[in-house]
Amino acid sequence: MSRNRDTGPAWSYHDSTKLSYIDLTSKPPLYKPSEGRPLVALPRGLPPPEMPAIQAAALPGGGSGGRVDVAAVAQLLHYSSGLVRKAVVPSVGEVHYRAAASAGALYPIEAYVVCGDVDGLPMGVYRFSPPEAGLYQVREGDFRRCLSLAEGDGDGPAWDAAVVLTAVFWRSAWKYRARSYRYCFWDAGTVLANLLATATALGLPGRVSAGFVDEEVDRLLGLEGGREAALCVVPLGDGTGSRRAPDCRLPTDARKAPAARGETVYPEMRELHRESCLGSVAEVQDWKGVLEPRPAEAAERSHPLEPAGPDLPSTDGLGRVIEDRGSTRRFAREPISVAQLDGALRASTGRLTADFLGPGADSLLDVYVIVNAVEGLEPGAYHLTPGGQELELLRRGAFRSEAGHLCFEQALGADAAAVVFLMADLQRVLGRLGNRGYRAAQLEAGVVGGRLYLATHALGLGATGITFYDDEVTEFFSPHARGKSAMFVVPLGRKAAENRVRPFRSAIGVKLDALARGAYPAGSNP
Ligand SMILES: Cc1cc2nc3c(=O)[nH]c(=O)nc-3n(C[C@H](O)[C@H](O)[C@H](O)COP(=O)(O)O)c2cc1C
Repeated sequence: MSRNRDTGPAWSYHDSTKLSYIDLTSKPPLYKPSEGRPLVALPRGLPPPEMPAIQAAALPGGGSGGRVDVAAVAQLLHYSSGLVRKAVVPSVGEVHYRAAASAGALYPIEAYVVCGDVDGLPMGVYRFSPPEAGLYQVREGDFRRCLSLAEGDGDGPAWDAAVVLTAVFWRSAWKYRARSYRYCFWDAGTVLANLLATATALGLPGRVSAGFVDEEVDRLLGLEGGREAALCVVPLGDGTGSRRAPDCRLPTDARKAPAARGETVYPEMRELHRESCLGSVAEVQDWKGVLEPRPAEAAERSHPLEPAGPDLPSTDGLGRVIEDRGSTRRFAREPISVAQLDGALRASTGRLTADFLGPGADSLLDVYVIVNAVEGLEPGAYHLTPGGQELELLRRGAFRSEAGHLCFEQALGADAAAVVFLMADLQRVLGRLGNRGYRAAQLEAGVVGGRLYLATHALGLGATGITFYDDEVTEFFSPHARGKSAMFVVPLGRKAAENRVRPFRSAIGVKLDALARGAYPAGSNP
């Protein structure tokens, strides 16, 4: 047969280059099934954490010593991953809103608890179920030592319980395709921001561990096959809330989840996940060991915020702020005060206790800001000096249209009072931390984004995570940002009375449309 008659290549090209939106009929479920596991109820009706949210956000996991009990577990899970609201949206149906923002409200992040016998909760491995506000028991027994070893701590756990965040990749990939690997880390970051702020409000110490033996942690949670995988571990409490953890054997009964209907595997994602795995305890310890100490001046960044001044009403308690938080759908084109911008930036960029930052290393991120309307600051492009908490002006100008364009042609960027761009020098990050550093940088960006949500809402403002044009963000902030990559973007400002998405086309978008119209025959749809 002539090659021309084998029509496989024509079909495969046509199918792989289709422009289509999402297939609503194959939307993955938002929750995992019970898998026949027993459900342990968590206490309800607990008083919401009252520490001012802005203070809790500024000191993630900053409790000085405290033990975990079942009430703390319930609070930590509710205020990070809980179901807080339901709404019926025309053409979509019932939408479930959770404590932390999630791209497309797809919620790919699952939360597991690994604990010793803590007051009110028997030792075990559990998976949190948001609709039931309870825990499915995955394993019985104290497996903290297994987890602690997998995260490179040979001395055994000095903590009571750890929350492990995983991603069910297809839940996000269904809409965001290969790019969803980034979204999973951003979503894990917003959950983490809430989790660590809640820990602070409850007086519990907590830290983020992004380096661990992937296969062992996944196996401990009963996961196999790569459809769902652990992204980070958060040990909590000072270890006095439970007996010393005994030695334990890593279980061997992990289950391969069946493919969901319509599930597509994106090889770029699979490959990056595989190539960023750490294969042994020695590799984990080595990974954690390569981090450089914090430069002396960065110590300044960890100081607690000053108590709220009269123009900075920031006493709203964390619990209420999280319950009331929602992504802003429309910003009023009104200015915010410089104290509000300063408060939001300081609360969100203060030091995070995370293994990828080492005992004293600085953030992996560079913070850039487009100021559209901030009283006391000239409109323009700014850079936040590392450690110094000073905004240096890079370029004066009214950049609303550019901000809307950079935010993927969304009015939210143009209307916001300021847009925060979290960037990373990937050459530097990957040079130090390898592929695993990519995960860490995306995760840290999500955490800062989540803290921005908390801080702005505490200040009576609004924020939203937003998608963006990668290289154009770099170009906009260059030459200062040359070589850096955009990780995550968050517009913030005053909420408009009518909180509905506004259609938008930036001047650049209109120019591109005109160009496209000229380049294509009339009536065609490029
Ligand atoms: C990583 C991330 C990206 C997002 N991107 C956008 C976006 O591009 N446009 C938008 O309008 N909202 C965006 N959002 C907001 C989500 O749509 C919102 O969090 C979700 O619908 C849940 O609603 P809630 O935040 O009000 O609870 C994003 C949120 C996150 C965490």
